[in-house]
Amino acid sequence: MIPGKGVDQALWYILGISAVMLVGITATMIYFVIRYRRSIHPVPQDIRDNVPLEIAWTVIPTFIALSMFYIGWQSYIGLRAVPENAIEIEVLGQQYSWIFLYENDKETENILVVPLGQPIKLNITSIDVLHSFYIPAFRVKVDAVKGMENYVWFNADVLGEYDILCTEYCGTEHSAMVAKLKIVPEEEYLVWLESEDE
Ligand code: CUA
Repeated sequence: MIPGKGVDQALWYILGISAVMLVGITATMIYFVIRYRRSIHPVPQDIRDNVPLEIAWTVIPTFIALSMFYIGWQSYIGLRAVPENAIEIEVLGQQYSWIFLYENDKETENILVVPLGQPIKLNITSIDVLHSFYIPAFRVKVDAVKGMENYVWFNADVLGEYDILCTEYCGTEHSAMVAKLKIVPEEEYLVWLESEDE
């Protein structure tokens, strides 16, 4: 599954269930307030031990919670399963910028250029404190930790420029630790890769 799609599906699924619950529970409460108000129903009934009802309100929510887990887990698997043909780029977080290292030793700061139509794998670490690498448009986010390598991957499937953010407070210039992702046609990428340009 494409990472961004799975994350969005999990979001909409959970949001949808939450909305149905909110409306359903609120409507039932309002109905009960009116239906059992003191003026027409002065003596409350003491109802206990309805076994079928108790089973229902245990089992149904359990399955709803499990279905949320399942869809979230599917989306997580999509985020971790990197296609074998992915282009790998090393990413270093530092106070306060992102360094990108390409296979041919080309290095850029705060600009990540990738070719259209390719899966991209970013191997992410930090050279100082904790940072967090985040590309909202592709729904990928992972901590950059010194001494540890994390990764994200995404399909570079639409041309354009996208934001890259640091999303873990890492010092006074944290909010300025932003970079750009540029998805360009493959020919343009290959020329760029061999050039001195950032
Ligand atoms: Cu790096 Cu916040």
